[in-house]
Amino acid sequence: MPFALTPERDRELTDILTRYPTKMAACIPLLHLCQEQNGFIDDDVVTFVSHRLDLPPAHVKGVVTFYTLFNQHKVGKHQVWVCRTLPCALRGANDMLHYCEKKLGIKAGETTADGKITLRTAECLASCGSAPMMQVDKDYHENLTPAAVDEILEKLRS
Ligand code: FES
Repeated sequence: MPFALTPERDRELTDILTRYPTKMAACIPLLHLCQEQNGFIDDDVVTFVSHRLDLPPAHVKGVVTFYTLFNQHKVGKHQVWVCRTLPCALRGANDMLHYCEKKLGIKAGETTADGKITLRTAECLASCGSAPMMQVDKDYHENLTPAAVDEILEKLRS
C-alpha cells in the first residue's frame, strides 16, 4: 500500500504549506513529518513527498541522502547519537562510544535485538563546551560519564 499521512498529519502538512513561499521550501518539514509517522524514509515516502510537493523524486531523494537526520532504513525506537568530533574526542567521546557499544551489545550503526535503541555517531552537535555529549532522540545529554550513560540507557530500555 502506498505511503500516506494520517489525517492529523495531513492537516499539519496543510498548515506547514501556509508558512513557506514555495512547495519546495516545505520539503524538509514534510520529510520530518513522514519520518515521525513511518520511522524512516523509503522510496514510497519519497514518491509521496514528490507528488505532494510537485518535485522530482531525485530532488527529494537528494535531500534525504544529504541529511543524516533522515533515516533511510528502519531504526530503533530510540536513537543515540554519540558526538565524535575533535572537542568531544579530546574529552573521551571514543571511550563513551565504546562504553555504549559494550552496554548495548552492538556496534555503532546497529540496532539492539529488541528494536529499542539504534546507536550512531554524529559530527559536532554544537555543544562542544559540554563535551563529551550525545543526543538521544531530540534531547542533549552533556558532560557524559559512564554513570550518566548507564542511567540514560537504562531509561531507554525500560
Ligand atoms: S565536538 Fe561534540 S558537540 Fe562539538
